[in-house]
Amino acid sequence: MSNDHLPEFPAGFRFGAATASYQIEGAVHADGRGPSIWDTYSHTPGLVLNGDTGDVACDHYHRYAEDVELLRRLGVDAYRFSVAWPRVLPTGAGEVNQRGLDFYDRLVDALLEAGITPTATLYHWDLPQALEDAGGWRVRATAEHFAAYTRIVADRLGDRIRHWITLNEPFCTAFVGYAVGRHAPGAREGTPALAAAHHLLVAHGLAVRELRAAGAHEVGITLNLDRVLPASDSEADRAAADRAETLHNRVWLDPLFTGAYPANEAETWGELADGSYRRDGDLEIIGQPLDFLGINYYRPIKVADGPWEEADPARRTAVDIRAPEQRFEGVRHTAMDWPVVPGSFTDLLLDLTERYPDLPPILITENGSAEHDTVSPDGRVHDADRVAYLNDHLHALAAAIRAGVDVRGYFVWSLLDNFEWAFGYERRFGIVRVDYDTLERLPKDSYFWYQRLIEHHRARH
Ligand code: NOJ
Repeated sequence: MSNDHLPEFPAGFRFGAATASYQIEGAVHADGRGPSIWDTYSHTPGLVLNGDTGDVACDHYHRYAEDVELLRRLGVDAYRFSVAWPRVLPTGAGEVNQRGLDFYDRLVDALLEAGITPTATLYHWDLPQALEDAGGWRVRATAEHFAAYTRIVADRLGDRIRHWITLNEPFCTAFVGYAVGRHAPGAREGTPALAAAHHLLVAHGLAVRELRAAGAHEVGITLNLDRVLPASDSEADRAAADRAETLHNRVWLDPLFTGAYPANEAETWGELADGSYRRDGDLEIIGQPLDFLGINYYRPIKVADGPWEEADPARRTAVDIRAPEQRFEGVRHTAMDWPVVPGSFTDLLLDLTERYPDLPPILITENGSAEHDTVSPDGRVHDADRVAYLNDHLHALAAAIRAGVDVRGYFVWSLLDNFEWAFGYERRFGIVRVDYDTLERLPKDSYFWYQRLIEHHRARH
């Protein structure tokens, strides 16, 4: 196969693969782990497709050595995983469970031995259930507990982990978890969801302080930024897109990188934002300098002006910003029913750097696609749609870099097929197939394609 059309990246650009604890680890009762909100949510009948849970998942907890070997053969520079808070502190606070930390200790050592840089996310959605029972992200105390947990993990692993991500996609925690109810804890609330958004930002800031105090080298946060487009050129639709832009992007970016809350928040939240959860000094906590911004990018969204009742019921939220999502016509949609529009990736990055001149370097911490994969009679997975998705998005990323955007690395989502939250095991994002009956791993064509891309990059530099 020729390498002519492979995307090309500057010297020093790093390639990686990503996963998250609840989605792959399984072993939910092992070594003193406490329950998380996702255990509760997935065990509540009717909430997750097919009644799937993360009880076994990919059993990565016991098979991590095999997974590290897959990463080594893939040739990645870095691996992004998350630490499960309920393994470290089974009730979220108090007594440390050393056996839980031991697991990450073993994982990190195996990665380093394989020449792979560990990149740890501290919160990828598995909040200890005990903290949810005490109010979850609706209350400020959770942010303080997060800071204490961060310090415990950094003290134990900080001698070997150089790259830290505080939170993964706080948008999903605050809005999908507390306003749409399609993620744990499954709440459908208005003002408390906005309080959660604020407390997540405070938690991030407090954790940055702890990481710095523990001597961390590189610290960042991962946001799922969406390219938001108005359904038409009308003033009403453009105003709706502005509100959606605030809900998805600005609510995080502005306090993190401009030291202010979004200027249009009053129009966006209306009376839902009572501000009671904000304190003087919070913006200073939130806006500390970061070494990188992690971006998870999958697709653009298109919105029109209109009451929330017109939104797809699965997306309808208690935070009514009057900007329901519209369908993209004439483009391929993935198994998630997400539109495939690679050019939006370039546009998002260009737009972002123009609007936020003080942005730190960017890391793409997730990008990938769920496809209807099958094992062919030849025993392989010919996931041509995923290869095309990755190829086109990496070309779009390379174009943004050529146009001046400072992007230092890219992590494919995901190394393994895994527990895709409310979709359970029905949606496969992996470049390695997992057979959920036998737990066997089978690299797909996309794995070999990515391997070739990395080899090609190394050969050029
Ligand atoms: C973002 C999340 O961080 C990850 O957990 C999820 O599986 C992927 N997107 C795909 O939806």
